[in-house]
Amino acid sequence: MSTYKNILVTGGAGFIGSNFVHWVVENEPDVHVVVLDALTYAGNKENLAGIPEDRMEFIHGDICDAELLADIVPRVDAIVHFAAESHNDNSISDPTPFVRTNVEGTFQLLEAARANNTRFHHISTDEVYGDLALDDPNRFTEETPYKPSSPYSSTKASSDMLVRAWHRTYGLNTTISNCSNNYGPRQHIEKFIPRQITNIISGISPKLYGDGKNVRDWIHTEDHSSAVWAILEGGRSGETYLIGADGEKNNLEVLRAILKNMGHAEDDFEWVRDRPGHDRRYAIDSTKLRRELGWTPKHTSFDEGLADTIAWYEANEDWWRSSKDAVEQKYAQAGQ
Ligand code: NAD
Ligand code: DAU
Repeated sequence: MSTYKNILVTGGAGFIGSNFVHWVVENEPDVHVVVLDALTYAGNKENLAGIPEDRMEFIHGDICDAELLADIVPRVDAIVHFAAESHNDNSISDPTPFVRTNVEGTFQLLEAARANNTRFHHISTDEVYGDLALDDPNRFTEETPYKPSSPYSSTKASSDMLVRAWHRTYGLNTTISNCSNNYGPRQHIEKFIPRQITNIISGISPKLYGDGKNVRDWIHTEDHSSAVWAILEGGRSGETYLIGADGEKNNLEVLRAILKNMGHAEDDFEWVRDRPGHDRRYAIDSTKLRRELGWTPKHTSFDEGLADTIAWYEANEDWWRSSKDAVEQKYAQAGQ
């Protein structure tokens, strides 16, 4: 039996939020989900297709709208807050919506949670810790100092600080999770893995930034969902939990795996201009989450998870085709 029976999921029409909603509906039969999503360019109601009406209510709205929150939050017993502007490259070209949604939006949600004494789980990122050198023997832990590099990660770090303060000052029942790079179905095609898959399907060369040696710590989005649920249910109030599945790989390795899987030569790609301020390496030590809450990832083979993800984009061209030209035009303007 779940502790929370009616949860508000912000950003539930985006990549990770929608995968989480599907996970909850499939795994927690006594839980009802209210999704609040502004349907920005990254949100898609189709991501929630197939969910029975009696399990989910969809509300089209903005997390910065305090009046709307005052109406919704009293009706739920927990908030799982995914909504954000999430793409680093966009934050470099225009940080404005990042400050608004990630900082002000989190503030408004915290205020609504405080007014109703509602359990609050905040979804954050490993990027708040900055980056590691390629040869650093350490990985990020819950004690690593914050050192964000980009407009995106600095707004996520700011939102984490708000959550910590609302716990300490007002005693709000909060937890924070900082997860590494997700992959899987329904990720927007501006992101690295789906961009390259859809480039190859479209006959466009895949694009690799810088020297291709930047490392990301990949986790399947389904494992992110199960970890968030474990923290929502069993996490200690005021605590932070890092989520990761020991999936470190550099970008060149990932791109070559995609090319190989799709029947292309491993050097069939283009080097492009690097991202300004590009973080070198992320790596998560998730010992606390595993020890305290007994969580383990289910997707332990990156190659299998990647093959399923490629198959999903091949089978769901209708889902991404209409945005492909605009995404590539934007990258072309930035020389990427
Ligand atoms: P996404 O960009 O795919 O989806 C974001 C969703 O939030 C969209 O549905 C969008 O419409 C919605 N949204 C944006 N602004 C809103 C607003 N003002 N009000 C209401 N809804 C709004 O993002 P994602 O990749 O699914 O990331 C989800 C969360 O997970 C973010 O908080 C992100 O920082 C965090 N995260 C992402 C990753 C990753 O690898 N993608 C890793 C760790 C943490
Ligand atoms: O670490 C968690 C973070 O992971 C999340 O907080 C962010 O929301 C999410 O977008 C992701 O950030 P990254 O910047 O790591 O992801 P992105 O998919 O943009 O890029 C992954 C790596 O691939 C990065 O080193 C940049 C590189 N890259 C990206 C694109 C789009 C390329 O080489 N070529 C590309 O075309």
